[in-house]
Amino acid sequence: TRNHDVNSKGNLTINGVDTTYLAEKYGTPLYVYDVEDICIRANAFKEAFEKEGIQYQVAYASKAFSCVAIVQLMDELGLSLDVVSGGELYTALEAGFPPERIHFHGNNKSPDEIEMAVKAGIGCFVVDNFHELTWLTGITQTLETSMKVLLRITPGVEAHTHEYISTGQEDSKFGFDITSGQAEKAIAQVLDEDRLELLGVHCHIGSQIFETSGFVSAVDEIFNHLQEWRENTGFTPEVVNLGGGFGIRYNEDDTPLPLGHYVEAMVRSVKEHAEAKDFPIPEIWIEPGRALVGEAGTTLYTVGSRKSIPGVRDYVSVDGGMTDNLRPALYQAKYDAIVANKAQKEKTETVSIAGKCCESGDMLIWDVDTPVLEQGDILAVPSTGAYGYSMANNYNRIQRPAVVFLNNKSDQCVIERETYANMTRLDRPWKKTEAKTK
Ligand code: LLP
Repeated sequence: TRNHDVNSKGNLTINGVDTTYLAEKYGTPLYVYDVEDICIRANAFKEAFEKEGIQYQVAYASKAFSCVAIVQLMDELGLSLDVVSGGELYTALEAGFPPERIHFHGNNKSPDEIEMAVKAGIGCFVVDNFHELTWLTGITQTLETSMKVLLRITPGVEAHTHEYISTGQEDSKFGFDITSGQAEKAIAQVLDEDRLELLGVHCHIGSQIFETSGFVSAVDEIFNHLQEWRENTGFTPEVVNLGGGFGIRYNEDDTPLPLGHYVEAMVRSVKEHAEAKDFPIPEIWIEPGRALVGEAGTTLYTVGSRKSIPGVRDYVSVDGGMTDNLRPALYQAKYDAIVANKAQKEKTETVSIAGKCCESGDMLIWDVDTPVLEQGDILAVPSTGAYGYSMANNYNRIQRPAVVFLNNKSDQCVIERETYANMTRLDRPWKKTEAKTK
């Protein structure tokens, strides 16, 4: 659904807006989001659930991209919100997101973060381990309040994706392990606590998944154990949360499924199991991050220096890199590029796009076909809307880019570009300490 086109000047447009105009107006690097693309994707998930006639929540995993504006957009779209830290929770509350639709994740939530979430009255706390279960119990007692809880379990399903973003396998830092009996023990412990209300179970098998089979296996695993847990503890879940991870198209090799297919497969499988094993049909919750915002985002760069090694490679450097897109360095992620001001020109050369950081690994794209690239050209890299800004950093003291939202063919800045002054704002001068005399 990428809303990319070429105008009469031969320039790349997104949502009808000329990207060279955006580069000129806001400077580069620049993240540009097509809001309409996000709306289409949110609605695709919602419509799929509604067609199945099942109770559901679609929670946007805000780790993919968290800022006040995106959180407000997700609220407008009627989604719930998954946060994983005090910072994401703070952003959500600042944005005015209804706390009762916020879900809190994380494998090492601090007592301060837990207290913040309990005080805010969030809708659901996803308990990851016994340690935080103890904290949460204590904090709800001290504050004389209660909390709805999901237990995160590792269903022992291997998602076919990069090992750094696969999380459902047993040997994982996340969640309660099933086979050793941890999950059942946790269920019993939560059921015992008056201040905790056990809604159900959660699992997240991984990210950038292109098949429905992993989700179906996760449902199989969960229900096989639910039978046992019901016998031993009396617990039946009101909610089964199947996490996120729905794959998107980063480049031409990626072949994502229509979003509704995942929902259909999940719902079918949950219904089958519930009926066969005589459980009430639970609500199904999901937590897409990249599937909502990934393809909606495009990064614009300005081309700078070039280095040609005859017979080997041509390096073309842009004014950003691993500071605004860590994914190539971290996951060998592959991206495409479009030369925004030469969008219709023939691709006559093969170059490698380098970032500007002092690090050989700072390469955005290896061997991509482009029209002849010259200094000042605007290079657009699509599908950078998820885990781009959110993993951006100040390595080499490079400022994080601005973020612009586009809808109805108009542009608005939702995050300002960082300044050099921002960079030293928290720094304090060095003072030599005199040696202490006894
Ligand atoms: N729910 C849970 C519990 C998660 O851990 C994640 C991602 C999601 C939902 C959302 O996954 P998504 O739908 O966005 O794939 N930085 C990496 C991905 C790390 C994802 C961690 N958890 C990347 O750039 O690919």
